Amino acid sequence: MTAAESPRPVARIRPAAHLRGEIRPPGDKSISHRALLLALLASGESRIEGAGDGRDVRATADLVAALGATVERLGGAEGAATYRVVSPGAGGITEPAGVLDCRNSGTTLRLSAGIVAGRPIFAVLDGDDSLRRRPIARVARPLAEMGATVAARAGGTLPPLAITGRTPLRAIDFVVPVPSAQVKSCVLLAGLGADGTTRLREPVATRDHTERMLRARGVAVSTSPGEGGGLVHALAGGQAVQPRDELVPGDVSGAAFWLVAAAIHPDAELVLRDVGTNPTRRAIIDLLRRMGADIEERPSGEPDAAGVGEPRADLIARSAALRGIELTPEEVAAAIDEIPLLCLAAAVATGRTRIRGAGELRHKESDRVAGIAAGLAALGARVRVEGEDIEIEGGRALRGAVTETHDDHRLAMTFAVAGLIARGETTVRDADAASVSYPGFYAELERVRA
Ligand code: S3P
Repeated sequence: MTAAESPRPVARIRPAAHLRGEIRPPGDKSISHRALLLALLASGESRIEGAGDGRDVRATADLVAALGATVERLGGAEGAATYRVVSPGAGGITEPAGVLDCRNSGTTLRLSAGIVAGRPIFAVLDGDDSLRRRPIARVARPLAEMGATVAARAGGTLPPLAITGRTPLRAIDFVVPVPSAQVKSCVLLAGLGADGTTRLREPVATRDHTERMLRARGVAVSTSPGEGGGLVHALAGGQAVQPRDELVPGDVSGAAFWLVAAAIHPDAELVLRDVGTNPTRRAIIDLLRRMGADIEERPSGEPDAAGVGEPRADLIARSAALRGIELTPEEVAAAIDEIPLLCLAAAVATGRTRIRGAGELRHKESDRVAGIAAGLAALGARVRVEGEDIEIEGGRALRGAVTETHDDHRLAMTFAVAGLIARGETTVRDADAASVSYPGFYAELERVRA
């Protein structure tokens, strides 16, 4: 049997009598990608502790090695990896011999495109079937405007993406076309290799890890309120990135599965250790609280006096009675990766939840609007999709069903959480998709229900 024909694993989940225990979510995926890529740009040694150990972060580690850094994976606690990266720095980036395989990871592709574009090399960025369906004109266009030669499939809109870099690039004044931290980060990283000051207008604020982590590595990036809302970021080209060690906090997007599991289960108390609570990432905590969730927060770390680092907290989540809420497009952008989970919480909550402006979710690892609507409907929830909006009429008891993950890690884990309360058995197809961001997820699920 060839690999293509071998059956993919399914998870079968039955309702849990109770949920109890302590969980350390995997290292934050967004921060882990950036720590590795910035280590490539910095000349010298950087150590990254507590990095996410999913397939996505491994794709970035391999890409950094293919571009000329020495990357050592030193093991680490379960679900976390420690990396030691020794790099010649941006100027020493070498042309990769083969295609750079970003696998399932949009962050790997879009951020590294910004780095490659400013170097005098040729590189092809590609990935799996899912990645090849994800829009890249949003990064290809600004990079071409900055002077790189860029070509991609389907009229420049889909991977593979071929880049012939240029040193230096031209600085541009760029309006980010969709709320996207990946696009912002791509252009900021390209801006490091540009002649002059690159300015970015972000109509809706998105996660700010790239800005924070650049500052922590000696790069001046200014951020100020934009006229008529949003933010404006400016960065002068030619600044050196200093090497720096990073202690990665737990991934709030991974913790979110347990926050929702605890909230919707009638007998639950879960303690989540050392979760990143960056203001641009914590929206899911605050949205769940608005729905009535019982989430206690005990800060476990703050940025230093210079504002470097990430705030973190232990979270204690308990059963609660949830009610429906309304989400604005800005709130959707702030909780973009957690919207499928929020839909599950909404299905259990009393009353109606309206999620406005969720169109970007169609361009993730799968079409998450279609995927969550179909999966929740199969589980007995009432979900309506109208254009970019999702409406959920809560209050129906869920019943086990076969759910399709479309090979999307966040859908797989969302349906598995639903299985903890749905009557009968819930089947999660292609359940191993979870290991893209959360390799130990099902083991944790078994542990906290035991
Ligand atoms: C990410 C940004 C988001 C998010 C993704 C990770 C990042 O994508 O969905 O999982 O690390 O910058 P967009 O910026 O394209 O919305």
